[in-house]
Amino acid sequence: MGKGSGFGKVILFGEHFVVHGVPGIVSAIDSATDAEVTQTGNELAIRDERKAAKGYAEEKRLQQIESIERMLTTMGLDPKLPLKIWVGGTLLGFSGLGASAASSVAIARAISEELNLKLTGEKINQIAYEAEKAYAGNPSGIDNTAATFGGLLWFKKNISGGQNTIEKLRIRTPAEIVIGSTGKVANTKAMVAGVAERKQKNPQKYDALFKQADALSYAGRKALEAYDLKKVGALMNENHRLLQEIEVSSRELDLLVDIARREGAFGAKLTGGGGGGCMVALTPGKELQEKVAAAIEKEGYEVLRTKIGVEKI
Ligand code: PMV
Repeated sequence: MGKGSGFGKVILFGEHFVVHGVPGIVSAIDSATDAEVTQTGNELAIRDERKAAKGYAEEKRLQQIESIERMLTTMGLDPKLPLKIWVGGTLLGFSGLGASAASSVAIARAISEELNLKLTGEKINQIAYEAEKAYAGNPSGIDNTAATFGGLLWFKKNISGGQNTIEKLRIRTPAEIVIGSTGKVANTKAMVAGVAERKQKNPQKYDALFKQADALSYAGRKALEAYDLKKVGALMNENHRLLQEIEVSSRELDLLVDIARREGAFGAKLTGGGGGGCMVALTPGKELQEKVAAAIEKEGYEVLRTKIGVEKI
């Protein structure tokens, strides 16, 4: 049997914009998807035991099968190879946490081990990127990169097809965050395609927003490296406004963002594809984290208390 894991992630700056070449900042979180793969039977069999939002597994089922076929093809294997795949782990199947990329990385690693392919991290990342196309259509690569390597990363897609820029960022001390889930499963592929369509229809408006997003990511990096968390939070708020303008937020996401800010979060924004899924609030210190988390839970939403910038993740 082959085994593998992939990290979950939270995007602090630049989701959606990153697909079109704007830099993004992403942090792996201390939850991961695990996979086990055995070569038996005569058809693909997937047992998905991830704890997930209602309807998540059903919504993603066909994309999951396509992603595995893409993975096998990229590995130079028969896309119909009869594999028995188990997926589980601590990462919740909430849209926005990179669960699809984490599972692709976990499965690719498990296949590599089962078939003794000895694939490098770079190769696993590339395979997971191809698999992500099943879920995101035109992914940036930020999710699979975080799922493969972990850490706090600066990611810039090379939209001409060359090497992407991936840099590890370091912050003085990990900072607490709260991730709030709307409980709504989102279709990342449709969200990414929607932005591309609106961008094409309204070039002037979108060019201006993309310029602002670009500047925000650079400012976010500077503030993180200076450990000016108040500034990081203010920039996250600004990023949320841009995401609202490109129409990827939702009523529930705005509500969770408002609750977090009201309770004293340094900043809050949607994270990932939007349209449902999750939001992230920067809440340095256990006390503030607990205050924000409890307020969101009180409204009936699930939360995850975690940290960004943890060295070993
Ligand atoms: O919703 P998630 O966790 O799949 O994140 C998607 C992030 C996007 O920027 C919207 C797409 C991408 O590939 O970068």
